Amino acid sequence: MKALVLAGGTGSRLRPLTHTGAKQLVPVANKPILFYGIESLVEAGITDIGVIVGETEEEIHAALGDGARFGAAITYIRQQQPLGLAHAVLVAREFLGDDDFVMYLGDNFLVGGISALVARFAEERPDAGILLTRVARPREFGIAELGPDGGVLRLEEKPEEPRSDLALIGVYLFTPAVHEAVRAIGPSKRGELEITDALQWLIDQGRTVRPTVVSGYWKDTGNVDDLLEVNRSVLESVESGVEGAVDAASEIIGRVHIGEGARVVRSRIVGPALVGAHTTVTDSYVGPSTSIAGHCAIDNSEVEFSIVLDGSRIEGVGRIEASVIGRNVQVRRAGRTPRAHRLVLGDHSRVQIVP
Ligand code: DAU
Repeated sequence: MKALVLAGGTGSRLRPLTHTGAKQLVPVANKPILFYGIESLVEAGITDIGVIVGETEEEIHAALGDGARFGAAITYIRQQQPLGLAHAVLVAREFLGDDDFVMYLGDNFLVGGISALVARFAEERPDAGILLTRVARPREFGIAELGPDGGVLRLEEKPEEPRSDLALIGVYLFTPAVHEAVRAIGPSKRGELEITDALQWLIDQGRTVRPTVVSGYWKDTGNVDDLLEVNRSVLESVESGVEGAVDAASEIIGRVHIGEGARVVRSRIVGPALVGAHTTVTDSYVGPSTSIAGHCAIDNSEVEFSIVLDGSRIEGVGRIEASVIGRNVQVRRAGRTPRAHRLVLGDHSRVQIVP
């Protein structure tokens, strides 16, 4: 069995953390969301992995390499334009050959892995397998309507009037039957070759598309509250450990991982929390559900329930909560009068100021 991981598409500038482009590299607990997908494929025994890349190819390549660090072999497949998920299958035809495969959308996050699902699929081999989960905003997803026997009646991509709240998750299991389907369909209203339409085509041909309803799902929607929440839940299972240095005047409580070369000085860290490699925390408090990436400096400040990305500095600013701070950001106390907020913010930034 192979895997096709979709990490193409255009870089979206609507998100708080993707000034770099690839939304699949948004970090959860200091690790890009895409890595969790690759790891769960390897855990399910799938190591021959094709990765669809688009205009953010360089970044994705730099992050994943040849796959060896995951115990996988990665083949990069360039999709010239993001013409749809079914188009990605067309482009990957040669790589996929006549093998069964898992298609994994690189911006999806599934708690609990896919090993059991893959094993069951390999044993029963329906023509395709889909995963469904209940969502609050069904208009933003592919939606399934199930019959009284639990079989799939109909699938619809981002319906204006959803017939259910059962959304297609971005993990699909396919036999080679899908290749005929992706060739048979035409572009949708949004001009894409939809995998939802290819699945519907299989259903219309009387083929078996087996649904499994799961929970514990998240998709990178650019929603900060969701990102903080998934970060919080992943941190719950962080492995404690101190690879850096913690001085005698500091206190570490609960599940906390301090990365290599990191230094904690006269500070208090209450887990679950991560302090990335080569980050320094001085005269500060880092509270629960916080991920601080590498090469950051937290000085004379308090940070709780937040995400801080690489290379950022937070100095003398009191308490920061429920915040997402990008790469190489500086947040500092203003010393002189006039007592005014001075801001240099990138596109689509959001700031909430306590008057
Ligand atoms: O996340 C689940 C949803 O994913 C499903 O409910 C929908 O049925 C399915 O169509 C898909 O919807 P999205 O519109 O949210 O997909 P998006 O365009 O965000 O693409 C998903 C991933 O695939 C993302 O990592 C980018 C990548 N991609 C996307 C397209 C359209 C490609 O690599 N190539 C493409 O052509």
